[in-house]
Amino acid sequence: MNRPLLPIGVFDSGVGGLTVLHECLISLPAEDFVYLGDSGHFPYGTKSAGELRDRAQLIAGALIERGVKMLVIACNSATAAAGDEIRKLGVEAGVPVVTVVGPEAEIAASISGNGRVGVLATPATVASGAYHRALEDLGRPLTVTEVAAPDLAPIIQHGPTFDEEVLETVRGYCEPLRKAEVDTLILGCTHYPLVAPMLQRMLGRDVNLVTAGHAIAAAIQRELASRDELAAERSEGDYRFLVTGDVDSFVEVGTRFLQLPLAGRAEKFEI
Ligand code: DGL
Repeated sequence: MNRPLLPIGVFDSGVGGLTVLHECLISLPAEDFVYLGDSGHFPYGTKSAGELRDRAQLIAGALIERGVKMLVIACNSATAAAGDEIRKLGVEAGVPVVTVVGPEAEIAASISGNGRVGVLATPATVASGAYHRALEDLGRPLTVTEVAAPDLAPIIQHGPTFDEEVLETVRGYCEPLRKAEVDTLILGCTHYPLVAPMLQRMLGRDVNLVTAGHAIAAAIQRELASRDELAAERSEGDYRFLVTGDVDSFVEVGTRFLQLPLAGRAEKFEI
């Protein structure tokens, strides 16, 4: 098996992780990617920790078995519930695992001026305390305000509508963040970059919005380089999709997230 030739596996509960894949495709154009969208089991964000752990481990195991040189958990809810277990799976299989949560926490802690950091995430991620721990571990005294947003990922997953109702929903989530005077907000769900303009308008231009994409792409690059497993220089690698739910709607909404074509590259995946 020639490991540099294997694709990088990426997964999320649906289309949200495409905001991470988007940065990876730009930063690592020579690599091949296989993205698994578990839209048949969406949403992850309101599942119990146990359910989420089982599901995320199953998906991770399937991608490792299929043959990937690295696994990227592009989902905060899955990382929060099963990051440790999946890292263990990776060690056993010799496949490095890169996750969200840690990289955004690091960026937020280093750029916040007033030390007031907000986290907007799914109920599962907030309940796990993963961001609190990650921010605490950095050793900088920070005031952290976490807001659970049960409705936001589903609105976005089903093809964002950007109507008055969505505006009202987002406004409600911003209220405690404004009151807490955060100067930095972690978008703690990979679906949320799609509503970044709304958030920025409501919170103000000066509030830093932190997303995972850049940091994850850089972490992949570093890890592959250290293992001498980067793809050989060439113009463009391939990217493919495995979808556990409806393929057509995934392709339609996903194309907007990725801002690259998905049509003809996605297939149904039963798991
Ligand atoms: N995109 C996922 C995350 O980052 C969760 C969305 C969901 O399935 O609820 O948490």
